[in-house]
Amino acid sequence: MREYFSEKKIMEEAELWDALEFCTKQVVAGLDRFTDHFPRAYSDNNFYPATENVDWTTGFWTGEIWLSYEFVQKYPEMYDEVLAQRLLRAGNIQMQSFLERIEKQIEVDHHDMGFLYSPSCVAGYKLTGSRVGRRAALLAADRLTKRFQPVGGFIQAWGAMGAPENYRLIIDCLNNLPLLYWAAEETGEKSYRKIADTHIHTALSNLIREDYSTWHTFFFDPKTGAPDHGATCQGYRDGSAWARGQAWGIYGLATAYRYTHREEYAELFEKVSEYFLEHLPEDLVPFWDLEFTDGSEEPRDSSSASIAVCGLLEMSRHVSEEKGRGYREIAGRILKSVYDNYAVRDGVQSNGLVLHSTYSKHSPYNTCNHYGVDECNIWGDYFYMEALVRTLWDWKQYW
Ligand code: GLY
Repeated sequence: MREYFSEKKIMEEAELWDALEFCTKQVVAGLDRFTDHFPRAYSDNNFYPATENVDWTTGFWTGEIWLSYEFVQKYPEMYDEVLAQRLLRAGNIQMQSFLERIEKQIEVDHHDMGFLYSPSCVAGYKLTGSRVGRRAALLAADRLTKRFQPVGGFIQAWGAMGAPENYRLIIDCLNNLPLLYWAAEETGEKSYRKIADTHIHTALSNLIREDYSTWHTFFFDPKTGAPDHGATCQGYRDGSAWARGQAWGIYGLATAYRYTHREEYAELFEKVSEYFLEHLPEDLVPFWDLEFTDGSEEPRDSSSASIAVCGLLEMSRHVSEEKGRGYREIAGRILKSVYDNYAVRDGVQSNGLVLHSTYSKHSPYNTCNHYGVDECNIWGDYFYMEALVRTLWDWKQYW
């Protein structure tokens, strides 16, 4: 670990409550615009425009509504029955939108069912017992199983099923799998779990390189299922470590361990986390690709910091007290920097929660479109709130 890590501070408890209070006020301020609609995946000049429920990211906003709903009931200084009912109403309207989306199959030909349905509908079901949430999330889990490719043993992320140019998995998908584990628990149907276990095994056998950096995506031979090659889409170049991919790896390994209890995943968690931590700049918030560090003009991806914090906090629940304390301390230091240096402080500055994220930055060596560079993005906001909540109380997770 970098020598300056241990000198960094963690957030005081009062700061944590203040930060979450501000987040909740921002969410409430957004409800007029974002109840029948959703914030887009990324902001323009730090302000989110409204969008229909069509992208892979809309569930994060509903997740922010549920985290706010939990907060107003936990925090006596903010408790207000009218406010709680307003948040509940918005959450219910959004779950109805998610049900309609999956029933009518609107933009669901991809693997992001977990990102969409865990923080919105599984959360709403767990918090309120909503049957709409439960039904929508189970349909989404079914949809996700349809993307499983037995030849190769993985969930195909994008594109037409079986198309050779898309016969691949991506590291982000690890965080879609809690939806399948939830569906298995909820219904008693073992096939959801089997698909998730198989995908995890294939993904972790191929995505992690010798130095514990990670591939963003990995291709397989459509005829034989043999592993073929790794490639980036959103990272800087093929051999580099896309910061958010590494962060999805950290959180994904923590949830993989939680659901499977396989010791090798705990070891991989440690190594993949170490690689991430070793490549952080002085303020502990990564540039968008871990290839870049202090002195670079490249933008940050603050969302990666919050995702990694959530992964470390998740894993701290499953290891020895001593190891868990270590993970919580590291997480606390990164979170403090996000709060001090990146968090929005005023609704005039932004209608989001965290500045300086990077969704997708084109480089001469990658294949992604260029958008949401050095902006807020909605999962960065969501995972920042989740990190605060996880630090403050024994959170019953949505994932
Ligand atoms: N899952 C897509 C991304 O992280 O940008």
